[in-house]
Amino acid sequence: MLNGKKIVLGVCGSIAAYKAASLVRLLVKAGAKVQVVMTADAVNFITPLTLATLSKKPALVNYFEPATGQWNNHVELGLWADAMLIAPASANTLAKMATGQCDNLLLATYLSAKCPVYFAPAMDLDMWKHPATVNNVQKLQSYGNVLIQPGTGELASGLHGEGRMAEPEEIVQFLTNQLSGNLPLTGRKVLVTAGPTYEAIDPVRFIGNHSSGKMGFAIADRLAVLGAEVTLVTGPTSQTNNQPGIKRVDVTSASEMLEACLMYFETADACVMSAAVADYTPVTVAPQKIKKQDQEFKIELKKTTDILRTLGERKRKNQLLVGFALETQNEEENAIEKIRKKNLDFIVLNSLNDQGAGFKTDTNKITIIDQHLQKTTFDLKSKADTAADICNKIIELI
Ligand code: CTP
Repeated sequence: MLNGKKIVLGVCGSIAAYKAASLVRLLVKAGAKVQVVMTADAVNFITPLTLATLSKKPALVNYFEPATGQWNNHVELGLWADAMLIAPASANTLAKMATGQCDNLLLATYLSAKCPVYFAPAMDLDMWKHPATVNNVQKLQSYGNVLIQPGTGELASGLHGEGRMAEPEEIVQFLTNQLSGNLPLTGRKVLVTAGPTYEAIDPVRFIGNHSSGKMGFAIADRLAVLGAEVTLVTGPTSQTNNQPGIKRVDVTSASEMLEACLMYFETADACVMSAAVADYTPVTVAPQKIKKQDQEFKIELKKTTDILRTLGERKRKNQLLVGFALETQNEEENAIEKIRKKNLDFIVLNSLNDQGAGFKTDTNKITIIDQHLQKTTFDLKSKADTAADICNKIIELI
């Protein structure tokens, strides 16, 4: 899929620069022509000779190479490339890109690039979470640059968390999906919700449910494979995405999930609401841990806002809205009622009466009912295959 594609690979000063060698190797193996551009700091982590040997082209660091008398023309590089990939992208380079600074060849090439730009950050978790970095990433996304989401795991500092550069295999897969350009959902933005919500009772207790988030994560992964730009708003879960490039927004409560969904809904082409959102939340949250006293204890609850219904009320003609229904009785009747009440394009119905369907399992058995009451019942399948069936319906309707 990358056959003949011209890629400028920008390598920054980060320990993850050692992965640039595998990245170049995989890109070249996939048929791409790779031109490496390094910052001066990157050279401290991996030698230009290594990357030049693997890419079969000199790795460029300076505007001017005194040894060869060669002037490296950033404008030409920017025009030559079908894509620019900055991996690893350090906090420093991200900040400079966001503010248009231009004190090295990589940044000058970035400013000259007319092609799509992808960046795969790598840094310590506190640097990644710092509001300055968060703002810089948002700014780059507003320029149309595409974030290849870092992963979670052990970091070079010894800390554990988010900030680890996506693996070279994931980055190449992501680029392949993006650059092939003819995937069914290329250029489409999709909002997905997943997991449970936790409604706080006091600082240590909450009301929750058994949702694992598996179905929503499988849907987000499948949408990404199909080329969509995915934002996944998820409640508390141990799930992780298998596809890079998915923007994950972690929330805890139903009201936080609503707030996050409203932020991304306007620009979304489709929304798939698979989260098991609490229908009720405590009227008040005790500021201190509640001590046990009487034999009986009552918690007063109030209704949460129905996120799906709220989005249904705001839905434009060109937006697609998908809801889920988990029922134990009168399944189809209840599901159809939800299509109407929440203004859905289709609903994914699963019944807790079906063996292998529902919470925490790796399989699911669904029926899709659309707004014209056309009904398709699927066999018991893995959640990944179920996600593919749901996404096929989205492609059919979008
Ligand atoms: N949902 C939501 N916000 C809520 C409750 C539910 O967005 N506060 C969404 C779920 O993500 C799901 C759909 O609504 O896509 C169906 O949720 P469900 O709880 O089954 O339906 P309800 O309308 O709450 O009806 P009931 O609880 O009576 O079955």
